[in-house]
Amino acid sequence: MSRNTRTVKGSVLLVTTALVLTACGGVGDAAQPEGENGVIGISMPTQSSERWVRDGSNMSSEFEELGYGVDLQYAEDVVQDQLSQVENMITRGSDALVIASVDGEALGDVLDMAADSDIPVIAYDRLIMGSEHVDYYATFDNFEVGVLQGEYIVDALDLENEDGPFNIELFGGAPDDNNAYFFNDGAMSVLQPYIDDGVLEVRSGQTSMEQIATQRWDGSIAQSRMDNLLSANYSGEEVDAVLSPFDGISLGVIESLRSAGYGSESRPLPVITGQDADLSSVRSIIAEEQTQTIFKDTRELAAQTVEMTEAVLEETEVPVNDTESYDNDVKVVPSFLLDPVSVDLDNYYEVLVESGYYEESELE
Ligand code: GAL
Repeated sequence: MSRNTRTVKGSVLLVTTALVLTACGGVGDAAQPEGENGVIGISMPTQSSERWVRDGSNMSSEFEELGYGVDLQYAEDVVQDQLSQVENMITRGSDALVIASVDGEALGDVLDMAADSDIPVIAYDRLIMGSEHVDYYATFDNFEVGVLQGEYIVDALDLENEDGPFNIELFGGAPDDNNAYFFNDGAMSVLQPYIDDGVLEVRSGQTSMEQIATQRWDGSIAQSRMDNLLSANYSGEEVDAVLSPFDGISLGVIESLRSAGYGSESRPLPVITGQDADLSSVRSIIAEEQTQTIFKDTRELAAQTVEMTEAVLEETEVPVNDTESYDNDVKVVPSFLLDPVSVDLDNYYEVLVESGYYEESELE
């Protein structure tokens, strides 16, 4: 989009806003936020996981500092609500869209609408699939996230030196989130050789993404699946490790294990990975329940996304560092990948508190 188009759009926007305000006065519709440089529509999946709340507020304040108005909406994991919210952002005149999808496959039609109005689209953290109208992708190295989780299990069980067999169960993320496959591929690139050698054993036999995926990343779904895995496969046997791709899933798994009697000195919880360094999981790590998480600094992702969005709007060079890995089935989307960091009891203070991400008092 050229500067000129933006200026023209900006004035149209003012008129449209005035009309909307007149038409909707008194009925409670939110007015389009104003910004001297335009408006950014930010569509986030849910507030139920605290990371997305931080992602939304970090981006909002950074865009606002740069003179943009922000239209931030959460879809609470309802696909249709996200579609309507993005559609509204388009009709209300957003100049760019930043979207973390609920269902990565579902946005094709609304992105066609965005393209018709020359609105650039940046996929945030989750790749939007099946559309040519995804201009850029800002995320973390998702394969590396899985590698770090797998390596953590290998180190914690000392698989380089121990013959096992150790019992492991595998959990995957949401089947409609492209990231889930990257996380799993990364983790299995590390764990599969140990499974093949019989050092790790998946007693349930459930190893494919179809069997291990967790709809909407929902911890209670993971909890029930873990209940079933335990009762069907673990009488007289103990679980030594659980590959969990996300903190919400880890906490569900821990609930299940605790109700089955794990969590005492004589019957410790297994090694349990996670992702996002959500507050409740960091507390759980400090309480020595969850073992590990992956910290993805949402401040960095927000800053990177703001920089990319502004470059697109200003028509300057957009910073990317990966132009090969993220094929959305229609095109390879130019991406910027940030580095994830593994966190456990040993380094949480340095990584999360000393960096100012959390106050020490929040972790008590
Ligand atoms: C993924 C994201 C993870 C986690 C998960 C559940 O797309 O990359 O960090 O947040 O969704 O929300």
